[in-house]
Amino acid sequence: MSFTQFKPVKTRVQRSELAVPGSNPAMFEKALNSDVDFIFLDLEDAVAPNDKVQARENIIKALQELPWRARGKTMSVRINGLDTYWMYRDVVDVVEQAGEFLDTILIPKVGVPADVYVVEMMVAQIREAKGLKNEIGLEALIETALGMANVEAIAAARNLEALHFGVADFSASRRSRTVVIGGLNPDYPGDQWHAAIDRMVTACRAYGLRAIDGPFGDFNSPEDYVKAAKRAAVLGCEGKWAIHPSQIALANDVFSPPPAEVDRARRIIQALAEAAAQGKGAASLDGRMIDAASERMAQNVVTVADAIEA
Ligand code: GLV
Ligand code: MG
Repeated sequence: MSFTQFKPVKTRVQRSELAVPGSNPAMFEKALNSDVDFIFLDLEDAVAPNDKVQARENIIKALQELPWRARGKTMSVRINGLDTYWMYRDVVDVVEQAGEFLDTILIPKVGVPADVYVVEMMVAQIREAKGLKNEIGLEALIETALGMANVEAIAAARNLEALHFGVADFSASRRSRTVVIGGLNPDYPGDQWHAAIDRMVTACRAYGLRAIDGPFGDFNSPEDYVKAAKRAAVLGCEGKWAIHPSQIALANDVFSPPPAEVDRARRIIQALAEAAAQGKGAASLDGRMIDAASERMAQNVVTVADAIEA
């Protein structure tokens, strides 16, 4: 290991994250009663310009009045982009009036580390002015060519805890040819999102952040959602958005380590502890060599399983 190390900033269970437009309060109760781990109440792209102010009020009221924490939900609000005049009031009104019920703020279309810095500064001032005791984490959407070009520097920004891959805006920004949001274009011989997700995950893990995969647009195709989620999970993402309630169970399933995997991980840790007691660094389990790197992989699986169980 390098002497320089970035420990995980914040562990949260974020297998599924439901996007809920702030302009549609009828969906709030459904989100509350769902099995989703994480919810972001949206002020950005799912809300039409004329509804922005009302959506902000709806979100503040919902954060204050509904029992999100009691139902085990982690609550986030996606603010508008820093290039809009809604953004400052999103931060000021939501954090001032409902900051105590808020776990994170999701910042869209982050392009440079200073975009995060601005929000961090505003939240710090409001927390102090209001005497808020709870931390409010920051998460950034990487969904522009600029954001991806700077993803390592953004990941190193202070106080971020997760990056999300926003494939829809990323396609728009890059002018990628897209047939379904987050799906595969048959004109490409492989997965055209591989390089982007892979780069973002590496940036996340280098700096101790969670890596979350964004939307999959065709909610009538659970099979294709699962394929997209599995591709992201294989690369190291720990969760994926649900843009429709039917996608929640799919994400929870893909991002929960299967019992057999958890069992094997625990056996790896046990076998290596026994080997260490005999002065050996490596061992064999089920006919395969295992060593300290196997233990680190196994520990990842056990940590996720324990967090889901808690
Ligand atoms: C999410 O915001 C996306 O653009 O995919
Ligand atoms: Mg977007």
